[in-house]
Amino acid sequence: MECPKEPLESQCSLSEIDDFDLTRALDKPRLKIERKRSFDERSMSELSTGYSRHELDMAHSPGSRSFVDTPLSYVRNSFEPHPMVAEAWEALRRSMVFFRGQPVGTIAAYDHASEEVLNYDQVFVRDFVPSALAFLMNGEPDIVKNFLLKTLQLQGWEKRVDRFKLGEGVMPASFKVLHDPVRKTDTIAADFGETAIGRVAPVDSGFWWIILLRAYTKSTGDLTLSETPECQRGIRLILSLCLSEGFDTFPTLLCADGCSMVDRRMGVYGYPIEIQALFFMALKSALSMLKHDEEGREFIEKIVKRLHALSFHMRNYFWLDFQQLNDIYRYKTEEYSHTAVNKFNVMPDSIPDWVFDFMPLRGGYFVGNVSPARMDFRWFSLGNCVAILSSLATPDQSMAIMDLLEHRWEELVGEMPLKICYPCIESHEWRIVTGCDPKNTRWSYHNGGSWPVLLWMLTAACIKTGRPQIARRAIDLIESRLHRDCWPEYYDGKLGRYVGKQARKYQTWSIAGYLVAKMMLEDPSHIGMISLEEDKQMNPVIKRSASWTC
Ligand code: GLC
Repeated sequence: MECPKEPLESQCSLSEIDDFDLTRALDKPRLKIERKRSFDERSMSELSTGYSRHELDMAHSPGSRSFVDTPLSYVRNSFEPHPMVAEAWEALRRSMVFFRGQPVGTIAAYDHASEEVLNYDQVFVRDFVPSALAFLMNGEPDIVKNFLLKTLQLQGWEKRVDRFKLGEGVMPASFKVLHDPVRKTDTIAADFGETAIGRVAPVDSGFWWIILLRAYTKSTGDLTLSETPECQRGIRLILSLCLSEGFDTFPTLLCADGCSMVDRRMGVYGYPIEIQALFFMALKSALSMLKHDEEGREFIEKIVKRLHALSFHMRNYFWLDFQQLNDIYRYKTEEYSHTAVNKFNVMPDSIPDWVFDFMPLRGGYFVGNVSPARMDFRWFSLGNCVAILSSLATPDQSMAIMDLLEHRWEELVGEMPLKICYPCIESHEWRIVTGCDPKNTRWSYHNGGSWPVLLWMLTAACIKTGRPQIARRAIDLIESRLHRDCWPEYYDGKLGRYVGKQARKYQTWSIAGYLVAKMMLEDPSHIGMISLEEDKQMNPVIKRSASWTC
């Protein structure tokens, strides 16, 4: 149905663009489809085949109801919810942060027993994402809207590290609300990397912000927020940081160590999969929200070109399966010119021993990093799940990632979902790569630790690929421990059996991640908020040796 009030040039409905066609995206204008109807239709068509008719019947579109105390999931089901759900909601609400009376986010951890607060009393952008999704899925969008607007305001601050001014578009890693009980005023302090350990700006924050803005829009049907000049400018500023021309020969984004969830030195500098997958997802999300006015059009053109190049690069050079591993094993080196097969001059001798045993005949994944003569073969969960959700992975690749998870359950999931990366690094390698970081010893924290927050991304990926039974298995594991252990931030050990050495308790994203996973399984239509459909145009038939000329 056409919406009569909107000027044509500003129209670009989310539901339409999700299965966007890149060539069409350039010749706007397009018509806006009536919001509510399109959501319902898409939700249903997005559902994967892993659901019974009964389960699909339970799927519903979000209403405007706001249950402040009662989680919607209680009301919806006739069966008893797991007792952990009520406790999780209570803990999530306890973590809410208010600014001048309005909820604006959730703190990272509410761990009063811990002596060291560090910055866990702040609202982290990446940590708030699962909280936001939980609130959206429960029909409480206000806190999400306030968060998006507050962080947008913070983006406008001047940011400096010593005498160096950061880019305008940088979003904060975290912020803190300071209450003055005497003057009865609230003020905000934000961190853009200038006080963070290692002084690294959070590259992921801006991407998560865009992804969350789309989730809010998709869930509420409220286009008025993303269409404000402020939000449009915010999106453009974030993207200007990544779409500017420089010396790059690759469409991937060059990053420093510690610029994302893995916010310490862990050898993920270069082109980490986490950032590339989030970059791809943010580009696609932005495409669905940018207005087709003069400024917007310029960006849309750049985004479309970048998406083409990025998906090609990632699907070819980051993808590893049995065949590809065997090809790399047999690579010649020192090749020159366009005909080179081993384009990045990867030395077969640099393939670590573990990967030969790890790689199943069926299955595959996006490796951690690819740059000249350096391929990081480690598996990273977040990047691979986001690759599925954003459709950076082709349908075949998505299936292969799930196959790998099934085959390597013990290694990647073990007793606590989900390993942040696999395997860990130890001994001499640990010394060199982490700089002797005592927090990142083997099978701990970012170095092969298990992070319950990743459950929501795994569940979403399972739903999207039609394998909800995998998510159920992971949720069962979580339900046997998490609550009893007071919702730790991470677990240690090869199987993820031990509560992490320095793990916070009542870590908000562990709590929210569980709730989101539960709500998505109960009502798979929620997946539409954080899933983007594949674009057929970006799925070229690939000849390995011809990429530079394509
Ligand atoms: C740790 C994590 C980071 C998270 C922060 C707050 O620094 O590495 O990803 O955002 O804690 O929970």
